[in-house]
Parts: sequence; C-alpha cells; structure tokens
Amino acid sequence: MTGSGTSEREQNFPALLERLRPECEQLVARYERKRSALLPICHLFQLHEGFVSKEAMRAAASMLDLTPAEVEGTVSFYTLFFRRPVGKYVLQVCRGLACSINGAEDLMAYFREKLGVGHLQTTADGTFSYEEVECLAACDRATCMQVNLEFVYDLTPQKIDEMLAAMRAGTYATSPMAQTEAPAATWSVPQDDQVATGRKSSGALGQPSPNNAGGVGDESGIIMLDRILAGDVGFYERTSERAVRDSRAVTEVVEAEKNGGNGASH
Ligand code: FES
Repeated sequence: MTGSGTSEREQNFPALLERLRPECEQLVARYERKRSALLPICHLFQLHEGFVSKEAMRAAASMLDLTPAEVEGTVSFYTLFFRRPVGKYVLQVCRGLACSINGAEDLMAYFREKLGVGHLQTTADGTFSYEEVECLAACDRATCMQVNLEFVYDLTPQKIDEMLAAMRAGTYATSPMAQTEAPAATWSVPQDDQVATGRKSSGALGQPSPNNAGGVGDESGIIMLDRILAGDVGFYERTSERAVRDSRAVTEVVEAEKNGGNGASH
C-alpha cells in the first residue's frame, strides 16, 4: 500500500490494461457477441495479476458493454477464478468418490500436515493455497489434484513430498501464479462461504435454504413447473394438495397390501 492509500498493483493496473488491451480486442473480435469474450478476458487478467481484481472486472465490463455486477456474477460463479490474491501454487486436491475410495482422505490430511494450513487457506509465506475440491473428472487416475490448474495423477505421500520440495526450490514443472499482491490467509470471499450461507449450488446440498439453488429446500424447479402447468394456482396450495393426495395414496396401498388386495382398486 502506498501513501495515497492505493496498492502498488492498483497503481500499475492502468499500464497493465493498456498492455493487454490489444489482446483483449483480439479476443472480442473472435466472437459474434462481445460478451462471449468475458471468460477468456478474465483468464488473461488472472494470468497477469494472479487473480481477477476489481479493476480487471471493471475494465472487462467496460470493454464488453456489461455492468460490473454482471462480470462479478460470472467470475464469482466459477471456482477457477480467484477474486482475492492466492499463493504461488494453488493446490486443489480432489475429494470426490473415486479419489476417496483410493485414499484421498489420508492424502488430504498429509497435505494439511505438511503445509500447516487447511481447506481454502494460504500459507503465511504466500507460497501455497490449499483447497479440497469436488471430482476433477480424472477418476481413472485417482487419486488426483490440480496444481495451478495442471493435473497431477496417482498421488502418493512420496510424490507430494517431491512436489512440495520442487515448488519451494522453484524447480517445479508448472509455473507459479503471478503474485502482484500479497495473499491474505484465505482468498475465499465471505458470501461464498457455502456452509454458512448455503447460497451457491456447488457443495451446498443438504443446506435447508430456499436460496440454495439445487439443494434441499430449493423450490425453484417446482415453482417453475407449477407456473407452466397451473397458471395462477399458487405453489403452496398445489404442493399441500399434492402432499395430502400422495399420503392418502400411500396409505391406501399399504392398507390394500395388508388386506391382501391390490392398491389400484379405484
Ligand atoms: S473423484 Fe477424483 S477425479 Fe473423480
């Protein structure tokens, strides 16, 4: 942070933007609609700044005729974009089913012990950011992870030791992330804390919140279906009717079975 209250990165941003502008324009020119260039442009900024800063989001919005909120809405949706500075190596270890069956739990514990940090945390020296993620779609090579988005397969404790040593020595095959600002203890933005708020679909299953798209308590699909089928008939009216009808039907079947009959008598 400088005396003017802005960080060195913020001060350097206008020069970076001018340097990247021609590349951004080329990206925009590839697509029929400007907004289609949003993801590649965000990737470009993340490549140079190590994360997608607020300045980058504003610049992308202005280049693509979008609002900053639209850009932030997209960036916050994808877990591969970071809105806060991260470590030089982002270690994303798969905790999906195939990896778990093959020992991911033990390997994650090993990582946590070796790094001294937990899920969504960055080491104090800013070298490593650690995250436990859902299936990386490489189940045939479980256990696996990504380092700065590059796959590493068939993990073992020995492989982890070698990998961390090479990263610390600066000899690891995958390049470190750009680091234009020192990372904090976590890069997670508070409203993304799915366990606390249940706001996002990914990982939010089981959170009884109507804001939890796709999770328990999410009524959006049923509401939409009801709107299509029933016009003005309210959701609650219809669902309670349906609940009564369904429970009656179940009782009738059970009763019919008890009496040795068949439940479809009427
Ligand atoms: S479960 Fe780990 S890659 Fe699919």
